[in-house]
Amino acid sequence: MFRGTGCACATLPLSPWLSGRALKLAKKSAPFAFDVVILGSGAAGLSVALDLPSHLSVAVLSKQAVGGSTPWAQGGIAAVVESTDSLESHVQDTLVAGAGLCNEAAVRHAIEAGEDSINWLVEQGTHFDESDGKFHLTREGGHSHRRVLHATDATGAEIYRALVEQAHARSNLRFFDQRVAVDLIVDKSLPISERRVTGVYAYHLKKDRVQTFAAKAVVLATGGASKVYFYTSNPSGASGDGIAMAFRAGCRVANMEFNQFHPTCLRHPDAKTFLISEAIRGEGGRLTLPDGEPFMQRHDPRGELAPRDVVARAIDFEMKRLGAEHLYLDISHKPKSFIENHFPTIMQRCAHYGIEIDKQPIPVVPAAHYTCGGVMVDHQGATDVAGLYAVGEVSYTGLHGANRLASNSLLECIVWGRGAAQHIGESDLPEINLAHYTPWDETQVTDSDEDVVVSHCWDEARRFMWDYVGIVRTDKRLLRALHRVEMLQSEIEEFYSNYRVSGNLLELRNLVQVAELMVRCALERKESRGLHYSLDYPESTETGTPTVISPRS
Ligand code: FAD
Ligand code: SIN
Repeated sequence: MFRGTGCACATLPLSPWLSGRALKLAKKSAPFAFDVVILGSGAAGLSVALDLPSHLSVAVLSKQAVGGSTPWAQGGIAAVVESTDSLESHVQDTLVAGAGLCNEAAVRHAIEAGEDSINWLVEQGTHFDESDGKFHLTREGGHSHRRVLHATDATGAEIYRALVEQAHARSNLRFFDQRVAVDLIVDKSLPISERRVTGVYAYHLKKDRVQTFAAKAVVLATGGASKVYFYTSNPSGASGDGIAMAFRAGCRVANMEFNQFHPTCLRHPDAKTFLISEAIRGEGGRLTLPDGEPFMQRHDPRGELAPRDVVARAIDFEMKRLGAEHLYLDISHKPKSFIENHFPTIMQRCAHYGIEIDKQPIPVVPAAHYTCGGVMVDHQGATDVAGLYAVGEVSYTGLHGANRLASNSLLECIVWGRGAAQHIGESDLPEINLAHYTPWDETQVTDSDEDVVVSHCWDEARRFMWDYVGIVRTDKRLLRALHRVEMLQSEIEEFYSNYRVSGNLLELRNLVQVAELMVRCALERKESRGLHYSLDYPESTETGTPTVISPRS
């Protein structure tokens, strides 16, 4: 493969005979250099950026100026802020949802930092809804108390607004959007235990070229991988890039079989992806069959507020039993003013598709929503490679186990984001020597004349992941998926080695890498637990352990 290898070998000095144009090109491709490079500007990346000491120079790279899942988060952020609730109750709810696979120390670490995280968000300018001078708390599945702080049904947008505003006011932060990180710069000739990340190659979507960012520390805050599935609540870009890059750099990943399917996404021919928040069920919404009959009690005594894996499986079961294209979520029994106050975004979006949610039920289906597994990290987001951190949905912290409790992920972004910032701030960062960076090499690749192949591969991968690695699995389906993953990987490798990169190709390469990790993890789990349900092994074993996949070298 004729690419920048990222090894720490010296580049040749510029030859005196370089023509004016070549000199200009060489200058253009000179690396950027920052103390810290953060990949991703969602809740996790911005929490790191805002809590890093101001003497550090920081670059924040992202695919789009506004992107990622954060601005789309609806329901809210879970934290214990009232005396009628308790940390222990939040811990127990998280452990129960996680179906025996949470790391209890990580759970306590997150939940004990809950109130402090909320105070920090408020200090950054976030406005949560209040009633009677206190935070208004809503409820979601699996929570035994009302403990979800929110900003109507657009909590992510409000948190994002506040953090971005703060970040733009900081002189040590520089934003680079339209960048797709390609690979981390590490010397792969070293054993993993001796590797250190020294930067990242990033493709500029508009300028159509790869740039080098040298860094003393790199933070992956690239979000999840739910775009691996054909139906998803996630915006474009959730292609698991950070997980794939970290794995290629030498990091272990864990629990990739646990992709959460949100039970209720809008089903409408013109709506690409739109979530109908669990808070609707928290405020009394009922799931019904096409004839209007509620059915959740048949599946779980907790009814509509059972954990997500249970509700998504129940909907999947009833849809398959009836051959129905969707079921319904009905909040129309509540007063219009109540719905308008609590769910203005959902009400407006549904009205756009001709659905009056104060008068009629909403057609819903489950869709891939959240990646519970990811890059293995400690309590401060440190990975297996020195200088490399992973925070937010890209990471596996142990908080979510086999199933994430609703609204715990924004909390995780803040807690681990701030933790990583503190760790970096307290570390001895090595000096950068720009002479040690190999520029991205495109001398031996050409422009692709068959981009259509890339979009077909995208489509194929997402469809077989939905069909074979979805809500209900079997070994036979998983092996079918693995076979297809391997075929796609060899096509992609050929493309990647011979053609200039593009945004679509880079995402596809990562998406299929992540699909492989998901299938391999799922094949290793010979039981049903949390979000992983196999018809071949319908019972849980007595002691479940996380599935850990180590890179081959
Ligand atoms: P994201 O916010 O997804 O940001 C990822 C960033 O990484 C983006 O800036 C993207 O451009 C960048 N990026 C990705 N790949 C690359 C690359 N290769 N190079 C450069 N940049 C890259 N959780 C809750 O707790 N409560 C909720 O109410 C809630 N509601 C949700 C509703 C919806 C519709 C969705 C989709 C998710 C919801 N979640 C909720 C989950 C939660 O929003 C996410 O887990 C969380 O926002 C993830 O934040 P993050 O910072 O890790 O990543
Ligand atoms: C929702 O509002 O239903 C999403 C909450 C979450 O994913 O945590």
